[in-house]
Amino acid sequence: MEAIFLCLIFLVLRVSGLSEGDALIALKSSLVDPKDVLQSWDTSSGNPCIWFHVTCNGNGNVIRVDLGNASLSGHLDSGVGQLTKLEYLGLYSNNISGKIPEELGNLENLMSLDLYFNNLSGTIPGTLGNLQKLRFLRLNNNILMGTIPISLTTVSSLQILDLSNNKLTGDIPVNGSFSLFTPIRFIECDFHFHDDGVG
Ligand SMILES: *[C@@H]1O[C@H](CO)[C@@H](O)[C@H](O)[C@H]1NC(C)=O
Ligand SMILES: *[C@@H]1O[C@H](CO)[C@@H](O)[C@H](O)[C@H]1NC(C)=O
Ligand SMILES: *[C@@H]1O[C@H](CO)[C@@H](O)[C@H](O)[C@H]1NC(C)=O
Ligand SMILES: *[C@@H]1O[C@H](CO)[C@@H](O)[C@H](O)[C@H]1NC(C)=O
Repeated sequence: MEAIFLCLIFLVLRVSGLSEGDALIALKSSLVDPKDVLQSWDTSSGNPCIWFHVTCNGNGNVIRVDLGNASLSGHLDSGVGQLTKLEYLGLYSNNISGKIPEELGNLENLMSLDLYFNNLSGTIPGTLGNLQKLRFLRLNNNILMGTIPISLTTVSSLQILDLSNNKLTGDIPVNGSFSLFTPIRFIECDFHFHDDGVG
C-alpha cells in the first residue's frame, strides 16, 4: 500500500517536471542559438530547474525564463504556453521572428512579458487579455501589425505597456485598463507610436 502511494507521488512529480522540461526543449528547438546559451537545456539532465536562464519556485515549477540579449533568432514555439506557473518571460533584444503564439494567453500567472527589440510579426494575440496578473507588457520594436486587442483593456493589473515602433494600426483604446494609464505614460506611448526614431 505504502509503496503504491509513493510510486504515485513520484509519477505525478515526474510528469509535471517533464512537461515543463518538454515545453522548454520545444522552445529551444524552435530557436537558433549561435552562442549556445541554451546548452544546459538538455532532457538527459532531467530537471529544468537546474538549467541556466530558468528559475523555479519551491514546488519545482518554472516561474522565470530570462533570455534577454542572448543573440537568439528563430521563432517562439507554442509549447511555451504549457509553463502555466511562469511569472516572467524575458526574450527581449534578440532577433526572434515569426508570430507571438496565442498560447501565451494560457500563462495565467504571468506578470511580465518582455518581447521588445525582436523581429516578431503578425498580430498581437487577443488571448493576452487572459493574462489577468500582467503588469509589464513590452512588445515595442518589432514588426507587429493589426490593431491593439480590445481584450487588453480588461487587464486591470497592467502598469507598463509599450507597443511603440511596430506597424500597428487603428485607435488606441481609452477605456478599461487603458483609462488608468497616467497621462505621462499615455503620451509617451502615443509619442512612440508616431516617432520611429525613438528607441
Ligand atoms: C548584450 O550582450 C553583449 C554580449 O553578448 C554585451 O556586450 C552587451 O553589453 C549587452 N547589452 C545589453 C543592453 O545588456
Ligand atoms: C538578425 O538576423 C539578421 C539576418 O537573419 C542579421 O542580418 C542581423 O544582423 C541580426 N541582427 C541582430 C541584432 O543579431
Ligand atoms: C527581420 O526579418 C526580415 C525578414 O523577415 C529581415 O529582412 C530583417 O533583416 C530582420 N531584421 C532584423 C533586425 O533582424
Ligand atoms: C472597452 O470598449 C470596448 C468597445 O469599444 C469593449 O468591447 C470593451 O469590452 C471595453 N473594455 C472594458 C474593460 O470595458
